[in-house]
Amino acid sequence: ALVSLRQVLDHAAEQGYGVPAFNVNNMEQVQAIMEAAQATRSPVILQASAGARKYAGEAYLRHLVLAAVEAHPDIPVVLHQDHGASVAVCVQAIRSGFTSVMMDGSLREDAKTPASYEYNVEVTRRACALAHAVGVSVEGELGCLGSLESGEAGEEDGVGAAGKLSHEQLLTDPAQAREFVAATGVDALAIAIGTSHGAYKFSRAPTGDILAMARIAEIHAAVPDTHLVMHGSSSVPQEWLAIIRQFGGEIRETFGVPVEEIQRGIRSGVRKINIDTDIRLVMFGAMRRLMSEQPAEFDPRKAFAAARLAARELCVQRFEAFGCAGQA
Ligand code: G3H
Ligand code: 13P
Ligand code: NA
Ligand code: ZN
Repeated sequence: ALVSLRQVLDHAAEQGYGVPAFNVNNMEQVQAIMEAAQATRSPVILQASAGARKYAGEAYLRHLVLAAVEAHPDIPVVLHQDHGASVAVCVQAIRSGFTSVMMDGSLREDAKTPASYEYNVEVTRRACALAHAVGVSVEGELGCLGSLESGEAGEEDGVGAAGKLSHEQLLTDPAQAREFVAATGVDALAIAIGTSHGAYKFSRAPTGDILAMARIAEIHAAVPDTHLVMHGSSSVPQEWLAIIRQFGGEIRETFGVPVEEIQRGIRSGVRKINIDTDIRLVMFGAMRRLMSEQPAEFDPRKAFAAARLAARELCVQRFEAFGCAGQA
């Protein structure tokens, strides 16, 4: 059944686990996530960006998710709008049947320019008033995502500040988080603690404190009833980078957020963990390998099935590692 983000994360908080939120825009991704959830008995957060709705088309995306719910009637599914850049985008998502929306007021409507705190409060407060009136949950964001190593916001994927960010912008302030939650009423809060979007997060193998772990615990203590969200949480598996390169792909040396760091984050209060890049990497790697190893093949289903299987295995690993398995 479709459920709200609040319902799923309240349970996660009670039991002390984290829930991966996977980005989707096509059928094979939805199937991979649902098969992995069914196999591990995990609750599911499917999230779609405005770009995903544009790619698939609003009706296709909506019906894909309805099909997932029909095919897996015993698995709770949240349909979440990822990085809503305006109140209007959130309203469109709600009309489309989403049970949760992210109002990302940390950036202006261009999704690039850091916004003022006052702007963020105003748009998030409005999104909460509209969403809560119809039982839809809201995720806000405070602070700008970016690497503490480089000060960069990460790859230009249309979501993230452009250019260098100061250390202050890169870390969410706990006192401000408390004020923000009181002023807006958000159910979940995306925090800036050193993660960034995309494949190119860290240039060296992460050692020690790459994330502001102590900061997560401080924010959690400041807003104990608001569920903390970690964006930019792909781990960028080195074995899949090797496969992509082996079969002709070009990808520079890069490192993601190790699963053990995410597990530490969950112990400090993180409940929702956003993953998009890892699914992209494994699906593309599996397709490259299939097409290279079977050059006479031309049934697209062979490539899509290989991609789906690789994504499914990744999702099983994340459900298990985050303590989500067995919770549905
Ligand atoms: O945070 C951004 C997600 O990775 C979505 O990316 O806008 O290309 O769908 P997208
Ligand atoms: P990754 O690019 O690390 O997968 O992060 C995705 C994300 O935060 C979507 O909102
Ligand atoms: Na989100
Ligand atoms: Zn994000």
